Amino acid sequence: MKRTLQAVCVLVLGASAGAAQDVTPDPAIEVDAARAELGKRMFYDTRLSGDTSLSCASCHQPDKAFTDGEALSQAYTGAGHFRNAPTLANVGFREAWMHDGRLGTNLNDVAREMITETYLMNMDMRIMQERMKQDPVYRAMFAAAGMSEPSNGGARNALMDFMKTIQSRNAPFDTGEMSAAATRGQGIFEGKGGCAACHSGARFTDDKPHNTGVPTNPDIWSDPLRHSAFVTYAKFMGVENYMNLREDLGAYVRTHREETKRTFLTPSLRELKYTAPYMHNGTFATLADVVDFYDEGGGNDTAKDTRLQPLGLVPSEKADLIAFLESLSGDSFDTDAYVWREDDYDYELIENWREQPN
Ligand code: HEC
Ligand code: HEC
Repeated sequence: MKRTLQAVCVLVLGASAGAAQDVTPDPAIEVDAARAELGKRMFYDTRLSGDTSLSCASCHQPDKAFTDGEALSQAYTGAGHFRNAPTLANVGFREAWMHDGRLGTNLNDVAREMITETYLMNMDMRIMQERMKQDPVYRAMFAAAGMSEPSNGGARNALMDFMKTIQSRNAPFDTGEMSAAATRGQGIFEGKGGCAACHSGARFTDDKPHNTGVPTNPDIWSDPLRHSAFVTYAKFMGVENYMNLREDLGAYVRTHREETKRTFLTPSLRELKYTAPYMHNGTFATLADVVDFYDEGGGNDTAKDTRLQPLGLVPSEKADLIAFLESLSGDSFDTDAYVWREDDYDYELIENWREQPN
């Protein structure tokens, strides 16, 4: 029956229809709408984790621009984490992922790491595939996305397509509605603050690692669960003497070059209003803390990037700079376009549709 098929299409495309009028920093990335819709359902599904306790959205929450509000991220049952959960806003535009940039091919790889890593979702992908095959809604959604049945590759591609739809919208910086304070702050950001040297382009990042001297977060060593995940990670990355490590080496884990020690990828400055606390280990609670950190010329690290120097900002300049940073945040992601609702897919409707000959 043709009418039912149309209804499915409307449901699938409905998510992106409203987004057309939004002002975004970059043009939207083209994705397969049915595959993205499938990825959206998976993103909110706790059955993707081994003991069904966590979904992607547990640590990447839409109302917090897909972060979790913790300094150090949540982790799988009985585990701890040693990094801050990054925002997924505009994540499809990055050139490398993870705070150390250790994944650089595509978001499909990142999805695999998130699902299978023992201290994240601890899921065997073969079991994930079986769980999805047992769910008629998944079977229907895979079919609607042109795949004969639930598969690991298909599932990861679907998550990738959903993530590519997560884009900043309607930030005052893009809509031309910046306050006078924010406009003055932009002058400092590009001028005496020297921020644009690393925070460049539409996302305000060069996607490269730098050492800014952010202090270590002692919780990684005082909490045995976090420490054991950290040791597992450092060992896996081939870091020498990993048992005695008392610092996060950042991008060094993939280069093994001395000069890359304690360098972390420049984060995007989009959506900061929603993503506190800040830095790879959540050391700073507020943007005022971050601005004070830069005003002092960054942290104490002999290998620190030499472009970081004390700035001598007066209080009004700090306030302007913060106003500018805040003007880079747009609409909340806690909307139908990004959040899976139980009734997004009408189960009966899809089952009927599948029985119709083409
Ligand atoms: C238990 C918490 C947790 C869960 C569950 C989780 N993540 Fe993450 N995610 C993190 C943390 C922490 C990082 C940063 C890790 C690092 O730098 O080593 C991260 C990083 C990422 C990144 C890289 C972002 C960037 O800018 O570098 C993507 C993409 C991502 N996660 C997607 C997902 C998807 C998709 C899922 C579900 C399949 C998921 N995450 C589940 C905590 C989580
Ligand atoms: C030398 C390159 C460089 C310069 C210059 C620089 N930053 Fe950064 N910025 C970084 C890196 C790298 C990080 C991440 C550090 C970490 O995670 O440990 C960062 C992190 C941040 C964060 C935290 C974002 C988050 O999501 O956690 C903010 C906010 C920020 N910078 C603002 C600024 C401002 C404002 C200036 C100018 C006063 C500035 N930066 C100058 C490289 C730079």
